[in-house]
Amino acid sequence: MARRTIGIVMNGVTGRMGYRQHLVRSILAIREQGGLALADGTVVWPEPVLVGRSEAKLAALAQMHGLTRWTTDLAGALADPANEIYFDAQVTTARVEALHTAIAAGKHIYTEKPTAETLDDALALADAARTAGIKHGVVQDKLYLPGLLKLKRLVDSGFFGRILSVRGEFGYWVFEGDWQPAQRPSWNYRSADGGGIILDMFPHWRYVLDHVIAPVRTVYAQASTHIPTRVDEHGNEYKADADDAAYAVFELEGGIVAQLNSSWTTRVDRTELVTFHVDGTHGSAVAGLRGCRIQHRNATPKPVWNPDLPVTTDFRAQWTEVPENDEYDNGFKTQWEEFLAHVVADAPYRHDLFAGARGVQLAELGIESWRTGTKLTIPELEA
Ligand SMILES: NC(=O)c1ccc[n+]([C@@H]2O[C@H](COP(=O)([O-])OP(=O)(O)OC[C@H]3O[C@@H](n4cnc5c(N)ncnc54)[C@H](O)[C@@H]3O)[C@@H](O)[C@H]2O)c1
Repeated sequence: MARRTIGIVMNGVTGRMGYRQHLVRSILAIREQGGLALADGTVVWPEPVLVGRSEAKLAALAQMHGLTRWTTDLAGALADPANEIYFDAQVTTARVEALHTAIAAGKHIYTEKPTAETLDDALALADAARTAGIKHGVVQDKLYLPGLLKLKRLVDSGFFGRILSVRGEFGYWVFEGDWQPAQRPSWNYRSADGGGIILDMFPHWRYVLDHVIAPVRTVYAQASTHIPTRVDEHGNEYKADADDAAYAVFELEGGIVAQLNSSWTTRVDRTELVTFHVDGTHGSAVAGLRGCRIQHRNATPKPVWNPDLPVTTDFRAQWTEVPENDEYDNGFKTQWEEFLAHVVADAPYRHDLFAGARGVQLAELGIESWRTGTKLTIPELEA
């Protein structure tokens, strides 16, 4: 059994996503399972080098996980030919420059979303990667969620008949930071630091809608900064000028209407932090992160509107849970495994920097729609 070690420069591993989902739940989990076994028997062994701005934090992380390679010198890490992949989970504003540097150094690229803050920047990255002939991938983790995999299976099986509409609710209350610490980093609430819920969530909605339901054709978005003052990690009050809630209507191919609310200023009255309610002529489904409930046309009750009587029907009980039927690994890890197989064995991989650019495009047009109060058509991007 041939072992193929592959060095991965991991930048931003002291952050929430970089640490938990990418280092611990993906790369270290792959090592704990003995590496990634490819079809030809090769075992891919990821060898991370932790990169960041704080020596102390990197050293502590490395020690905690028995790793020996860490540095604050990104250029030095990129100069080592053993490091074939550059991974970026830094704050969004630091991403474009770092990715261009890594592409110029001939590294394959794997990155968090959004790939950039503007479509021009996102496309320039994708073009640079294509010109350099390197392999590139963008995190599109929601596609690997059990709930959305079940939903995709329903769509592919024809369960819905003709899909009419999608209503999505994403969100939860992010504390203001004064009387309880906020559970998300403060840069998310400052525009100049790459914050804003449209830039954060619309890249996800682009690939979710495109891949699971139907291609997105238009966008209309109304957003708001509901909480204009917050308190940061150091206890300092700051002006929160980025959008913290966005209410959007998307038209999809085939006349499907998708309404998606994204909010850090809503209290949860749902079974999960995100839910997608899909209605079709033959059936409906409500998918979350993990679960998915269905109601077929033959099992659809006939509610009658009568406000004079108390509600005695348990409407939720009239739905059927889609069985697991599969084992679901962490979605970030599964996507890492696909990308490693793409790099090492040339396995097909569709979530590239052009796909990342389509996500940035929807965010950019969403912001423009909000600013101008208009519904915008989404131009096709090449590649
Ligand atoms: N795929 C997803 O579901 C998902 C979820 C949340 C965040 N993200 C993306 O991941 C990225 C990181 O988000 P996070 O929530 O982990 O953020 P975070 O603030 O927890 O981490 C940011 C990381 O970037 C580093 N960094 C580099 N330059 C910096 C600078 N100038 N200022 C501050 N930090 C700097 C920090 O040290 C840290 O390691 C963002 O681009 C975000 O959009 C993706």
